[in-house]
Amino acid sequence: MRIVHVSAECYPAAKAGGLGDVVGSLPKFQKDAAVIIPKYHTKWILAQEYESVQQGVVRIHHGQVHYDIQRLTSTDLGFEFLVIDIPTKFDRPGIYADSNGNNFGDELERSICFQQAALHYLGSLDEKPEVIHCHDHHTGLIPLLVEYGTDFRSLKGTPTVFTIHNGVYHGAFSWEKYYLLPYLESGAKGLLDWNNTINPLACAIKCAWKVTTVSQSYMEELRTQSNGLEYLLRSEWRKTIGILNGIDAKTWDPKKDPLIKHNLKKSVARYKSQNKKELVTQFGLRKDLPLITFIGRLVREKGADLLPELINYFLAQGKEASFIILGTGDQNLQGRLASMAYHFSPYLNVALEYNESLAHQLYAGSDFIFMPSRVEPCGLNQMFAMRYGTVPIVRKIGGLKDTVPDIGEENGRGINFTHFNVEDAGLALF
Ligand code: GLC
Repeated sequence: MRIVHVSAECYPAAKAGGLGDVVGSLPKFQKDAAVIIPKYHTKWILAQEYESVQQGVVRIHHGQVHYDIQRLTSTDLGFEFLVIDIPTKFDRPGIYADSNGNNFGDELERSICFQQAALHYLGSLDEKPEVIHCHDHHTGLIPLLVEYGTDFRSLKGTPTVFTIHNGVYHGAFSWEKYYLLPYLESGAKGLLDWNNTINPLACAIKCAWKVTTVSQSYMEELRTQSNGLEYLLRSEWRKTIGILNGIDAKTWDPKKDPLIKHNLKKSVARYKSQNKKELVTQFGLRKDLPLITFIGRLVREKGADLLPELINYFLAQGKEASFIILGTGDQNLQGRLASMAYHFSPYLNVALEYNESLAHQLYAGSDFIFMPSRVEPCGLNQMFAMRYGTVPIVRKIGGLKDTVPDIGEENGRGINFTHFNVEDAGLALF
């Protein structure tokens, strides 16, 4: 089956979170898959060679925007990889935000141009995709446009799958911006609406043939709490399904991973202690204490705001552990963590950056990984951690609940806690 993924992220070309990991690995395991993303000016994207396969224009209001579809010449990724070059819209190093962390103001225009260009291209192919697989709200208008977009009639009837990696963001905008959208068949306009706004996530849930999310528990949670989409998800339940993500066990292999200092040979204990030694030395931490790590975006959703209070609470009780925090996000939180690293040395240190190779080293050298997420559709970090012999301490929700049974349960693989507060989380750490 010919499957084409349309997405805002794909590792290693452009990754802000787990969406990039999944779109960069799932297609490797499908026989005939392609991925299309915007041509951002990330380091990786600019360092590759491409051949141009189609040029054209999309209409946005009265203006025309040029695009150029380019195929990666190397086949190393294990699937066909296409980028859409749309000058003035995507020729920036950031995916969603500039280097100061400020979101771009023209997200809507960008996503409308990208989705249209992708569909013009797919519609022009002799061999049409058998399934178009869209990911998150950035590609949420595609299922509607495939069926009802007057410019894309050659794609009508093509099955579409829509995966919710993160139901917090809907991409909603006001009906006043309706004029930016491509033309629709009469009668289709209402499908855009949810609560009097144009809501791409809701529209995708209505129009896609199948709606998946990345764990069963998260699908259940969405039916009772999804920022206003609960009723929609319940009424569309017949076509919804939760399918747990997996990780690419070849890329994530402690025996071969080139990004870690000491690969796993015969002894797990030796591999763990050598890698831990590298970390405690680099971060100036005590090596006799258990090493607990947080890796991820420093945002509310991931529960990162619990960290300062929790670490304070934990150490103030006279309990001891070493903590490393890796990630970027909320500026206030970053500031707080940086000053804590100074005050709580040698128990805490931080790397306030996005650093893929350090992340690998942390999975290899930590004793525990801590994930206090408020919401976790699937979560990949706990899987990377387990693959590298690191015990996850997780909040019992979404994909974390589905992948990390508590040590008190049969087949236990980690430590669970339920309530999002310092007492419960502190007890889990202890
Ligand atoms: C998003 C979710 C995360 C999930 C990932 C891949 O980043 O927050 O839980 O693992 O997408 O599906």
